[in-house]
Amino acid sequence: MESVLKTEFCGITFKNPVVVASTDIGRSAVVFERFAKTGVGGIITKSVTDAAPLQNKGITMFDIRTMDETPVEQCASIPDDYYFFSRGGSMVAMDDYEPVAKEILQIAERYHVVPIASICAGKLENWVAYARRFEAMGYPMLELNLGNPHGEAAKDKLGFKISQETDLCVEVAAAVIRAVRIPVVVKLTPQVADLAVLTSTLEAAGVQAVTIMHRYQGLVIDHETLEPVIGGYAAIGGPWMKPLSLANVAKVRNATHLSIMGSNGADTAQDVLDFLLAGAGLVQVGSSMMLKGPAYAAKLVRELETLTAATSRSPAELSGLVAKKIVPYKELAKIAARRAVIDTSLCRSCREKPCLERCYYQALSLAGGTLVHDDVSCSGCGMCRAVCSNAAVRIEKIR
Ligand SMILES: Cc1cc2nc3c(=O)[nH]c(=O)nc-3n(C[C@H](O)[C@H](O)[C@H](O)COP(=O)(O)O)c2cc1C
Repeated sequence: MESVLKTEFCGITFKNPVVVASTDIGRSAVVFERFAKTGVGGIITKSVTDAAPLQNKGITMFDIRTMDETPVEQCASIPDDYYFFSRGGSMVAMDDYEPVAKEILQIAERYHVVPIASICAGKLENWVAYARRFEAMGYPMLELNLGNPHGEAAKDKLGFKISQETDLCVEVAAAVIRAVRIPVVVKLTPQVADLAVLTSTLEAAGVQAVTIMHRYQGLVIDHETLEPVIGGYAAIGGPWMKPLSLANVAKVRNATHLSIMGSNGADTAQDVLDFLLAGAGLVQVGSSMMLKGPAYAAKLVRELETLTAATSRSPAELSGLVAKKIVPYKELAKIAARRAVIDTSLCRSCREKPCLERCYYQALSLAGGTLVHDDVSCSGCGMCRAVCSNAAVRIEKIR
């Protein structure tokens, strides 16, 4: 029976929209196979690079913490919300990787997984040469890693340094697109002024698909040693990134006709669905796959099937549903005004009344111990509801 999750992306059929992002999972055929068996729709290989400083795997360092900064190794189990901090940006050299890439192709065929080859070069001629080599091997799709947050380690402009120069970004993407016949997906950094503007420029230059988005550079501080954790700036991500990524996916969806792979912050099946609703056609999951392993990947696909079936819509029908409904800032007046309505019978027993202190519009006062709400001053912001522990506040639309 055909899955409800079957998805077309740039003319290629994926059995479902879950794609394992380019991570160390694609470094070896052995690990690739473990994930290929899980039922995911696609797997992106580890990026190949021509930058010698980034070909050394000894530079890899991870620091994974809960949101209250407890190192994950001190937790009883892997937390659902974490941040994944990684330094080094170690990738692989094309000549060393080619035999692995060939083996991966055979595994992908065996498990009906779409293999996508990832490139992160510094020199234009290598972008083109590596793309041609992957195409000649039989890869059906390429991802150009123009968003790697470790680009500063290389001599040539690399990773996010390329996304940050629109002309260079267009030059690399256009040169690869001209050189191969397979679909090319351009993976971008979020560290640019406006992803909607950048992607519109890429679309005008002939780009068909983008990955929104790579990770940010971040800084984590070791409170005991007062040193930067793992030495300094590093790539930062985790499930908490999802709202930032969703906003960028929706912006690109609304500004262009590009096909979008969502990336950065997808952890659960619901997250994958959210990326689709924001406008993605496929959704990459990287950190959580690495941290939680192949069994988690299989569970995620199963859960996505159940969730999607419950919507009675296909992934293609879900894609962009919410992006269409976004009210732009210029049209804020179209959103109904709101006001707080307080059930004073519920709040009578509350001595602290934090809502009084936390109302920044002076809409709340006390009269004889009872809360009085002023409809005219109230902005309907919802702060009083957020701090009320008695569920005494509801927010209603005025018109
Ligand atoms: C350890 C690690 C290695 C990564 N290696 C690559 C890489 O070689 N090429 C690439 O384009 N992205 C790489 N990424 C970024 C992921 O592909 C993905 O874009 C990012 O982690 C955000 O998605 P996530 O929240 O699902 O992890 C790596 C991420 C991690 C955590």
